[in-house]
Amino acid sequence: MPRASRIDNKSIANKVFLRRKATERLPALRVLDLFAGNNVLWSNFEKERYYGVELLPDKGANLNADAHQVVDSLDLSDFNVIDCDSYTIPFEICRKIIENPLVKSGTVVLYTAICGIFMPLPNECIDALGIRDMYHIAPSMFRVNGNTYFYDMLANLGIKEVQYYENHDGFTKHYGYFVIP
Ligand SMILES: C[S@@+](CC[C@H](N)C(=O)[O-])C[C@H]1O[C@@H](n2cnc3c(N)ncnc32)[C@H](O)[C@@H]1O
Repeated sequence: MPRASRIDNKSIANKVFLRRKATERLPALRVLDLFAGNNVLWSNFEKERYYGVELLPDKGANLNADAHQVVDSLDLSDFNVIDCDSYTIPFEICRKIIENPLVKSGTVVLYTAICGIFMPLPNECIDALGIRDMYHIAPSMFRVNGNTYFYDMLANLGIKEVQYYENHDGFTKHYGYFVIP
């Protein structure tokens, strides 16, 4: 089997455009980039502060760590933009951000949320829905609705509005943002 690699930024122009739109009202950008990769997207912006977190050590100038494990120990009040440009559905990380007592009202949270029959649902999502037994029997039935479960979770935590655009390429990809109330 050939070695497969993921394409981090299939649509850089669209992702950058979304980030411009999401941050246009902010006078200065203090960015926490939780899935920072090679720091490509934010290299297009003037920033007052930039802090990248990335799992893999051979990518970019970042703290190398699992974003889910470090997010609770970071002072989120230092940032007015938090980027979750993940490969899957950023269910757990967005919940942690919204529930963090230090995150400031007005903080812009960007996300990439990807679902499809071949994309496993995050464990936290399966548990939140209480579908663990059913999920093992018919996972694809639930996987295709992954983004809907993500938005339901956001709504339950008080996020009333999200802006996103959708792309289909075998997966359903949502590129979006919301603002902490
Ligand atoms: C779509 S890419 C992000 C690209 C990035 N926005 C850029 O500008 O280059 C997703 C990145 O998240 C990283 N990643 C995946 N799981 C992670 C985790 N749990 N914690 C931190 N980074 C993670 C991947 O290694 C990958 O580099």
